[in-house]
Amino acid sequence: MTAAIELVQLTKTYGPRRGLTRLTLQVHSGEVFGYLGPNGAGKTTTIRMLLDLIRPTSGTARVLGLDPRAEAVELHRRIGYLAGDFVVDGRQRAGECLAFLAALRGGVPRRRIIELAGRLDLDLNARIKSLSKGNRQKVGLVQAFMHHPELLILDEPTSGLDPLVQQTFLDLVREAREAGQTVLMSSHIMSEVEAVADRVAIIREGELVALDTVADLRARSFLQVRINFAAPVRAEEFTPLPGVSDVTVDGTTLACRVDGSPDPLVKAAARHTITGLRADTQDLEDLFHGYYNGEAASTAA
Ligand SMILES: Nc1ncnc2c1ncn2[C@@H]1O[C@H](COP(=O)(O)OP(=O)(O)O)[C@@H](O)[C@H]1O
Ligand SMILES: [Mg+2]
Repeated sequence: MTAAIELVQLTKTYGPRRGLTRLTLQVHSGEVFGYLGPNGAGKTTTIRMLLDLIRPTSGTARVLGLDPRAEAVELHRRIGYLAGDFVVDGRQRAGECLAFLAALRGGVPRRRIIELAGRLDLDLNARIKSLSKGNRQKVGLVQAFMHHPELLILDEPTSGLDPLVQQTFLDLVREAREAGQTVLMSSHIMSEVEAVADRVAIIREGELVALDTVADLRARSFLQVRINFAAPVRAEEFTPLPGVSDVTVDGTTLACRVDGSPDPLVKAAARHTITGLRADTQDLEDLFHGYYNGEAASTAA
């Protein structure tokens, strides 16, 4: 499998501040890759280095087999890029702006721009400065997708889009994958990425904390259990049980996490009179927030 993007020990420091620390990963050709992390994690820093908008402090990035700095002109022709802070001349009409950007990329059929604008419900005659944030974001999406680039690099592409347009965006991403294009998209919201991504990387404070297929991340789900007893219980009775962790007891209420079979917990609890029981499966969003808060992946493995 060839790599559309290959990062080796990629590092960026802003003075004494860390932007990104020794990031090594590959985005495979033809996959949709979700790049997740809370605000300030280092997503935009990474993406800017792929486009030579900022330079690494150390480490290397190769994009479509090319050096982002030495081969920037060729690379930019083959990429569709949506910046996190997409800005264009506000006096232009949306259609004029897109025609201009299309010419820069060697020409895009007008009907392609009209088709994308129609699907996203963007008025091409509106002046950009009169558009809402969400509608400006649509201009950014059209310019990223319109020339069928080999690689799409999208920094928080769904920010500002209403839910219906988000669905259209996800369709565009799926179509790009079906056409053999590669997509790297960043987000701070798991659910946006979960629906389309083949693999996701999660970064926090400039470091990679997880990299896996969406399917395998899902398989790491666990149970969050809460049991109410008729009389007070002691935590020590439950902490040694296999698969049971994060035990807290507040009088007659036990809360804990269960990985794997709930059988040992149920049998131990059954020695007491139970007045209430609740077990919730943790979904991907919860898992993601676990990573956000720095809870180690080891407990979820
Ligand atoms: N130009 C800059 N100067 C100084 N610090 C910066 C600069 N750009 C980003 N940072 C810092 O680098 C870290 C990562 O930022 P960023 O890549 O924008 O995160 P994200 O896109 O994941 O929200 C943050 O702590 C941010 O404050
Ligand atoms: Mg950002």
